[in-house]
Amino acid sequence: MPVLSDDFQVADVQRDHQRFIQDLAGWRRSHSCGALGGRDDGEHVCLMGWVQYRRDHGGLIFVDLRDREGLTQVVFSPEIAPEAHAGAHILRSEYVLAVRGRVRPRPEGMVNPGLPTGEIEVVVLEWKLLNTSKTPPFPVEDRTDAGENLRLAWRYLDLRRPRMQGNLFLRHRVAQSVRRYLDETGFIEVETPMLTKSTPEGARDFLVPSRLNQGQFYALPQSPQLFKQLLMIGGLDKYFQIVRCFRDEDLRADRQPEFTQIDIEMCFADEGMVMDMAEGLVSRLFKDILKCGLAAPFPRLTWDEAMSRYGVDKPDTRFGLELVDVTDIVRHSSFKLFAGAKLVKAIKVPGGEAFTRKEIDDFTEFVKIYGAQGLAWIKIKSGEWQSPVAKFLSEGERGAIAGALDLRPGDIVFFQAAEPEIVNAVLGNLRVRLASHLKLIPGDSFNFLWITDFPLFEYDDAEKRYVACHHPFTAPISGHFDLALADPPAARARAYDLVLNGNEVGGGSIRIHSGQEQRRMFEALGIGSDIAESRFGFLLRALEHGAPPHGGIAFGLDRLVMLLAGAASIRDVIAFPKTQKAACLLTEAPSFVAAAQLRELGIRLREVAKDA
Ligand code: AMO
Ligand code: AMP
Repeated sequence: MPVLSDDFQVADVQRDHQRFIQDLAGWRRSHSCGALGGRDDGEHVCLMGWVQYRRDHGGLIFVDLRDREGLTQVVFSPEIAPEAHAGAHILRSEYVLAVRGRVRPRPEGMVNPGLPTGEIEVVVLEWKLLNTSKTPPFPVEDRTDAGENLRLAWRYLDLRRPRMQGNLFLRHRVAQSVRRYLDETGFIEVETPMLTKSTPEGARDFLVPSRLNQGQFYALPQSPQLFKQLLMIGGLDKYFQIVRCFRDEDLRADRQPEFTQIDIEMCFADEGMVMDMAEGLVSRLFKDILKCGLAAPFPRLTWDEAMSRYGVDKPDTRFGLELVDVTDIVRHSSFKLFAGAKLVKAIKVPGGEAFTRKEIDDFTEFVKIYGAQGLAWIKIKSGEWQSPVAKFLSEGERGAIAGALDLRPGDIVFFQAAEPEIVNAVLGNLRVRLASHLKLIPGDSFNFLWITDFPLFEYDDAEKRYVACHHPFTAPISGHFDLALADPPAARARAYDLVLNGNEVGGGSIRIHSGQEQRRMFEALGIGSDIAESRFGFLLRALEHGAPPHGGIAFGLDRLVMLLAGAASIRDVIAFPKTQKAACLLTEAPSFVAAAQLRELGIRLREVAKDA
């Protein structure tokens, strides 16, 4: 069957390929572009896909046809099917094509062992042009030098690249594995509202104006926290939801304004039960996806210990370089910088004696982001210490430092002396920077770790009051309610985070399930009873109507998939992510809206907006 009309002229074709577009008219795919192999020799097949490349070779025209399953080489031969061959010159990258033809082995020497379909090709007998494509702004290939903004603006082209397709497949398989596991272990999936009341959990809400109740707003959920608690009070017992959450916060590589949680809640559960369930879920996931076993139970570290040894609450435990507290050793030092500091910690790097001045200057510059004024260091050479600060330390102090850090020739030690928050942030982040600089981080290991006993409260400088570290519905550990009032920073919460290779992939807690205690908690947080009633009255009433003990956890699905995919950013595992400025470059959201739309909502802008 000729593909192109009889009056086909090359010149016409150059001008307007679109006139050759045909519809499917009953053609159906027999195989995907990744399916055929040597065993299919002689089969008559029908493939559809996108043109990856067209190559003209001594009369033959080769096209690599691509769909989400792979690539198949199709050949237009002037001898075998002259009519099909005649029109094939019009094919360009990203044109959409249907071919019918016969599978044959590739000739000797043309087999491509790197391609699953590399043993065969399909000789085209007839074909249809299903659509043309303008020249794409970047080639649809894994190896691309297109910048991320260009890729995001043309995301549907970016999504054709095998790597992006692989990431979204992986995400799909993760979601299926999670659903299977939770279903098998008695959890039921329940949807909760997207238009809801603000449940403050630290971030700003995205607000949605109500047309029917002018002047009033819904909030998009930061998480289904209160609804999942209400489901427990409603007797649903074991709930889960793979759910979109919205937070208007400053974005980073591992944060999006809308992201997905695997949200879980259980009745009659303590920390151990939630952690067992979570370990089971994650172990199943890694078995399903990576075919690798995880050693459960995962190690547990209290928050205090994590901060002391690693300086951060989400330590990467794939390498050592732990922090050592030397405050007591230098407390009475004549070196005022150290003696006067609240906390002095050190980090030893074996072999770091070889660092150049430039490398040390770079580290010093790096730690300034975390509030460091400087970065003292000592190189341990055999027989002497080389350092800008060693001369200020007494013989005894040097001996004690050498003992505490087990110093050997070839080591370098970095010191930070400051407020505890700064010391920990500086050395905790320097630790990771040093490990990656020295290539100490194994690429193929997955170190899970629980961080437990978080502080109940943290001081919020902007609000000038204590706020809940996790959220205000988290129960204090036994006996710490009174401490919460007497010495807020000392109180600890029944909260836990799951950390993977230095990333917080999940967090949860055992909740307060008594109305009275929840009221006390709001008081302790400086939330007056009127505000508590207007914001959380529905929760307080529910807690007074037979609320069972309950607790749960939420995993960041995007972060889990990012780590499983080995991607550098969660944007690479989200089909249509937003930029650092929370914009969608493809649809150009957010955008101005028409004045009439605002009027309907009863909204007048303070600044006159550009009209939509
Ligand atoms: P939390 O706020 O710790 O807990 O969130 C749970 C997990 O969600 C992921 N996450 C994010 N991922 C991408 N972008 C973001 N902006 C973002 N924010 C959070 C993290 C985090 O560990 N309702 C509680 C859970 C509970 O108590 O059960 C909650 O939302 O991986
Ligand atoms: P200075 O006396 O300010 O020149 O600092 C002496 C050394 O201490 C320099 O190497 C500084 O980088 C370092 N330094 C300065 N402030 C701190 C600090 N807070 N903690 C650790 N080292 C510091």
